[in-house]
Amino acid sequence: MRVGTVREIKNHEYRVGLTPESARELVANGHEVWVEKSAGLGIGAADSAYAAAGAKIIDTAAEIFAGCEMVVKVKEPQAVERAMLREGQILYTYLHLAPDPEQTADLVKSGVTAIAYETVTGPGNSLPLLKPMSQVAGRMSVQAGATALEKAHGGRGVLLGGVPGVMPGKVAVIGGGVVGFNAAQMAVGLGADVTILDRSPDVLERLGIYFEARAKTRIASTANLAESVADADLVIGAVLIPGAAAPKLVTREMLGTMKPGAVLVDVAIDQGGCFETSRATTHAEPTFMVDGIVHYCVANMPGAVARTSTYALNNVTLPHALAIANLGWKQALANDPHLANGLNVHAGQITYEAVATELGYDYTSLKTVLG
Ligand SMILES: NC(=O)c1ccc[n+]([C@@H]2O[C@H](COP(=O)([O-])OP(=O)(O)OC[C@H]3O[C@@H](n4cnc5c(N)ncnc54)[C@H](O)[C@@H]3O)[C@@H](O)[C@H]2O)c1
Repeated sequence: MRVGTVREIKNHEYRVGLTPESARELVANGHEVWVEKSAGLGIGAADSAYAAAGAKIIDTAAEIFAGCEMVVKVKEPQAVERAMLREGQILYTYLHLAPDPEQTADLVKSGVTAIAYETVTGPGNSLPLLKPMSQVAGRMSVQAGATALEKAHGGRGVLLGGVPGVMPGKVAVIGGGVVGFNAAQMAVGLGADVTILDRSPDVLERLGIYFEARAKTRIASTANLAESVADADLVIGAVLIPGAAAPKLVTREMLGTMKPGAVLVDVAIDQGGCFETSRATTHAEPTFMVDGIVHYCVANMPGAVARTSTYALNNVTLPHALAIANLGWKQALANDPHLANGLNVHAGQITYEAVATELGYDYTSLKTVLG
């Protein structure tokens, strides 16, 4: 199969669909790989690295969309890219169609076979192609919070690890899932005094077994949340209720109980945020102050560490890309029900029920498509 990847054109997107190593893997499996000129520059991968991996460097995205059977990307196709999609072509990328009627309409019109990273499942209802971005955001939340705690960034001037003779900073992590676990790992590693709050006793039990005495766990009751937030130098918001807006667990009133210059990092901002005073920010201006409390609310945190994020993403997307290229999309999806859950649009039909329901399309089942 001829597989292509293009330079991402969404604002401030530096990641790329295929690393040179992934290109090499596809080539080793007998496929032809086309890479748009400069596609990897955002992660420090030069065209020469792709060429050395056996890929062909192509001048324009238009040639790739015109010539490749499968296009592997990171972000949803932008309007100019959607205009270049062709009937029968495979598009493999993050799509997030439910809140995006324009993109959905264009994909339906194009006749493309679109497989969305975010709906590919794994064992136990997990979403393995979303997980690495949560890992990245969780780990980043602590370094973002630590920076925001510095005086020059509006913070209260606390070093999370303390120094010999001076107490460490206190970190409260709300939500002990993928983001929260990774945040806690980093904060513990820095030597901070870490408390993880979650509403699920099972989650807390697992965290307690992992961290032993290195982090405290606490059920996320209203009273416990209020106390931990008031006591913290850094609060990391990492809750998720699948398919719903994040609950506002820290109210504006609670800011008044916090130490001036304390920091809130709202990782859940992509679901509306779990602090009442959060509003989405960008890497260009990541923080703002409300009532003397620093807020960090960047909605696409992994974008700042594009190289790590691209490699983490490729680790989980490449095996499926190889299966699709080796077997053809239909056989690959028939063999792997988890990958099949990724199919959102095929030949003008919506094949993902939640998207069809949300946007008022007829739903075509996977069974109908795969036969
Ligand atoms: N800003 C970014 O760049 C970025 C990047 C990746 C993920 N995220 C977001 O981070 C959030 C967390 O993602 P995740 O992968 O860790 O999810 P997850 O499902 O692994 O974990 C969420 C946790 O929140 C807990 N929870 C739910 N409601 C709660 C409540 N009321 N009180 C306390 N705990 C509660 C759950 O029990 C669960 O343990 C999501 O909104 C995700 O979209 C943001």
